[in-house]
Amino acid sequence: MRPLALSELLLTELQRDGGDAAVAPPLNRRLYLSLRGAVLSGRITAGVQLPSTRDLARDLSLSRNTVMSAINQLTAEGYLTARQGSGTFVSETLPELGPLSPAVRGRKPAPAASAADESPRELSRRGNLLTAQSGSADFEVQPFAPGEIEFAEFPIQLWQKLQAKYWRSLDRDLLDYGQEGGYMPLRVAIAGYLSLSRSVRVTPEQVLITSGTQQSLDLAARLLTDHGDDAWVENPCYWGARRALQAAGLKLKPIAVDAEGMAPSPADWQQGRPRLIYVTPSHQYPLGHVMSLQRRRALLQFAARQRCWIFEDDYDSEFRFGGRPYASLQGLDEHAQVLYSGTFSKVMYPGIRLGYLVVPTDLLGAFNTGLYDLYRPGQLMLQAALTDFITEGHLNTLIRRLRVAYQARRDELARRIQRCLGDRVQISGQESGLHLCLLFNAAGVDDEAIARAADAQGMTVRPLSRYFLGAPRQSGLILGYAYVPTERVPPWAQKLCQLIRGQLPD
Ligand SMILES: Cc1ncc(COP(=O)(O)O)c(C=O)c1O
Repeated sequence: MRPLALSELLLTELQRDGGDAAVAPPLNRRLYLSLRGAVLSGRITAGVQLPSTRDLARDLSLSRNTVMSAINQLTAEGYLTARQGSGTFVSETLPELGPLSPAVRGRKPAPAASAADESPRELSRRGNLLTAQSGSADFEVQPFAPGEIEFAEFPIQLWQKLQAKYWRSLDRDLLDYGQEGGYMPLRVAIAGYLSLSRSVRVTPEQVLITSGTQQSLDLAARLLTDHGDDAWVENPCYWGARRALQAAGLKLKPIAVDAEGMAPSPADWQQGRPRLIYVTPSHQYPLGHVMSLQRRRALLQFAARQRCWIFEDDYDSEFRFGGRPYASLQGLDEHAQVLYSGTFSKVMYPGIRLGYLVVPTDLLGAFNTGLYDLYRPGQLMLQAALTDFITEGHLNTLIRRLRVAYQARRDELARRIQRCLGDRVQISGQESGLHLCLLFNAAGVDDEAIARAADAQGMTVRPLSRYFLGAPRQSGLILGYAYVPTERVPPWAQKLCQLIRGQLPD
């Protein structure tokens, strides 16, 4: 089959299966199903070479990651075979069929497979909703990928030593499930850190060790809300939070964000009845604004009046450049209605999967039970090593080093952007964290197209429009600077800025 004919066939299938965008499976799955169906029915025959992922992505107007995700899945399942140096081919032997029949081998076109053969396995409605739009998982680790961090600064040997110490002494209790909210010495260390650096009002008992923000949010949503309740989220909003809240069956109510953080309208303040409010007050994700004191007070008063919960996601405030980190919202709360969440994903590494949730005292029993019964937490060895890492001062040293490194990268990137793009853009949210948000001053800039073009040139930038619920209100790009060493920023920034300039109106 000609490469172009294959692309045309897939394009037709993708367009036909597009259906209702709200519930259709995500593009990578649709491509997977189309390709698999075409192989099974013999429309693409055994031994045929597929076009490169780059060509397929271009022909189908998809991101390369979407194509790679589908191809990798089919290769892992045995429908396709990757041959080193020569490309990807339709396998001679298919997983469901055994050796291919002559028809499928291409000697004779096979009759169309029955609908049952090709029909995708049904996900639940929740499953379709969750996978309907491809989110952050769609991105490769490339320069400017938001959320990616620098490992070069991480003291690997020290970390290995601390873990080895616990494995050598082999305290069997540390091999058990984590009960009662996690390893107590770690909870003590975190409580000390939070009350000192983040003005959180906390005792060690209130700190529950979770596997990160995602789990903290899932737990809070499951225990404090019911299916169909309203949840206020910032608009634009962090993908991960939206996913967790949607999975809990909450109706998301997007609340606009301005320079003072979440900005409910007069009608929202008067008529809103959320059960839970998700906010990132120290560094709004993705725009980067800090919530003003006035807005914090208003939100706390509203929550007290409505008897609703606030989930404070404080994901990266360790990296505030110049000045102390902002105090937490939880520290201002007089009614024990804020759940404060933090993570080690940014200050250590994302795969550590350790975070914490500070819970009001009267909810502790319920949250301990929920944590244990829903997730069977563990990793006590890791928690013990992390305790030493904190109490021996290594975490503070690491944060200080990373802050200097990230600030230099941010400065370099911001300088290059300003020099190249001048008043065509604004930079928002660069006072802290690991990313900045580039806002286009001209109306109607297609940030998705810029992100695709950047991807084709080996850079990962995220279109701001994707973070909005409903119609995007602004277009821009989220740029992570933590992953690119300072000396590599200039060439990458130049490449990106030139690309952007080519897409902006004069
Ligand atoms: C807004 C926000 N919250 C939390 C996290 C971290 O989540 P987790 O602790 O689940 O890794 C991130 C990671 O990028 C984030 O952007």
